[in-house]
Amino acid sequence: MSVRQTPAIGAPEGKLGVLTPGLGAVATTFIAGVEAIKKNLTPPIGSLTQMGRIRLGKRTESRNPLIHDLVPLAPLDNLVFGGWDIYEDSAYDSAKNAGVIASDLLEKVRPELDAVKPMSAVFEKRYVTRIDGPNKKAPASKMEHAEALIEDIANFKKDNDLARCVMVWCGSTEIFQTPSDVHSSLEKFEEGLRKSDPEIAPSQIYAYAALKSGVPFANGAPNLTVDTNAMLQLAGREGVPICGKDYKTGQTFMKTLLAPGLKSRLLGMSGWFSTNILGNRDGEVLDEPANFRTKEESKLSALDVIFQPDQYPDLYGKYDHKVRIEYYPPRGDNKEGWDNIDIFGWMGYPMQIKVNFLCRDSILAAPLVLDLALFLDLAQRAGMSGIQEWLSFYFKSPMAAQSVYPEHDIFIQLMKLKNTLRWMKGEDLITHLGLEYYD
Ligand SMILES: NC(=O)c1ccc[n+]([C@@H]2O[C@H](COP(=O)([O-])OP(=O)(O)OC[C@H]3O[C@@H](n4cnc5c(N)ncnc54)[C@H](O)[C@@H]3O)[C@@H](O)[C@H]2O)c1
Repeated sequence: MSVRQTPAIGAPEGKLGVLTPGLGAVATTFIAGVEAIKKNLTPPIGSLTQMGRIRLGKRTESRNPLIHDLVPLAPLDNLVFGGWDIYEDSAYDSAKNAGVIASDLLEKVRPELDAVKPMSAVFEKRYVTRIDGPNKKAPASKMEHAEALIEDIANFKKDNDLARCVMVWCGSTEIFQTPSDVHSSLEKFEEGLRKSDPEIAPSQIYAYAALKSGVPFANGAPNLTVDTNAMLQLAGREGVPICGKDYKTGQTFMKTLLAPGLKSRLLGMSGWFSTNILGNRDGEVLDEPANFRTKEESKLSALDVIFQPDQYPDLYGKYDHKVRIEYYPPRGDNKEGWDNIDIFGWMGYPMQIKVNFLCRDSILAAPLVLDLALFLDLAQRAGMSGIQEWLSFYFKSPMAAQSVYPEHDIFIQLMKLKNTLRWMKGEDLITHLGLEYYD
């Protein structure tokens, strides 16, 4: 499809299944939140698809509809939730265990959460060493596991009378991996599945099953997952949209707010030190150095792209960037992050910025899961396939075409997202030139 041609968008008729590999803190906070919104217990705070507006045309036209009134998104009442986990806990028990949601609110959505029981997982302890659980598929080849997941998706669709599905990875962060030969083409990947190649991680098997089933896939963790030639080929062949990776929520969200601002004023930077304490299961998994490495790579990537040290050597040519996560159980999901930023200004005079963000990890991530599910479904109905760069807004390590660097600046990402929605509806793109008001 030509990128210039406004697409015909199919109506969001029927029910949409939202499948999450991983039914932990993020997934259950997302499901509980949607159920609470449906019961009018809370507004959908943090969700662009639900609360965001979009300016159309000139500022003088005063057209500023809600995004969900511009583009046809699946209504929340039509969402049906399902997932896989290595633990047998229902979404209710898992949410209770995660401790993110206060019990009075949780009880109000208990029947809906109790009904979400995890399907048995495809799991390999080598990839997530710190946890293990009983709810796993029986040992088999990786291709047989992929086929079992494809069957799970088909059964879920049939049993719930669904029109469409999307899959959003909410599972643990896997150990650090770079693409290897088995990821270089779809043919090699499928051969690797048949031979149970050790380089194929569980998240890649879920992604393969999703794409083979025509189900769009978003990667909420920093794992390699769909960021390989094999998966790009499969997404292209099946005409399925994909995006990733790693939800941009706490510290990196702050980074991509602050860094573009400092750069816009050409303030130099000599160092950025970030540390966190986190006590949830995610923190426990990330306590393992091989898993933390995956997260670290993801967290480190944003600043270089925003500051462009090669183009601004005097300002950003040599800065220290360090990121630490400490597993500290007393804090649970309530992460605390500290940033110390050493900057310099006119005539090189040094200054410091300190950021102390007391956030709630899953509270920040849940609306992103909702938006990704709805936007991926929209993209699918608009006939868009492969990498959805317009959804970079949501990710720490956004996927992008090989020919371009990924955009990390959150304001550019938001403009890209909104212009994509305008393009979808044949509206003028907004350049912010604005000279016409002074003619
Ligand atoms: N919360 C945030 O702000 C945030 C931001 C960016 C990324 N993430 C990522 O999102 C993911 C989920 O975070 P969380 O806080 O919900 O973690 P969590 O540990 O509470 O939940 C992850 C769940 O995935 C399950 N799991 C692991 N491997 C699996 C497999 N192969 N199949 C099925 N289930 C599997 C685990 O048993 C666990 O219940 C993590 O990878 C995390 O790094 C979270």
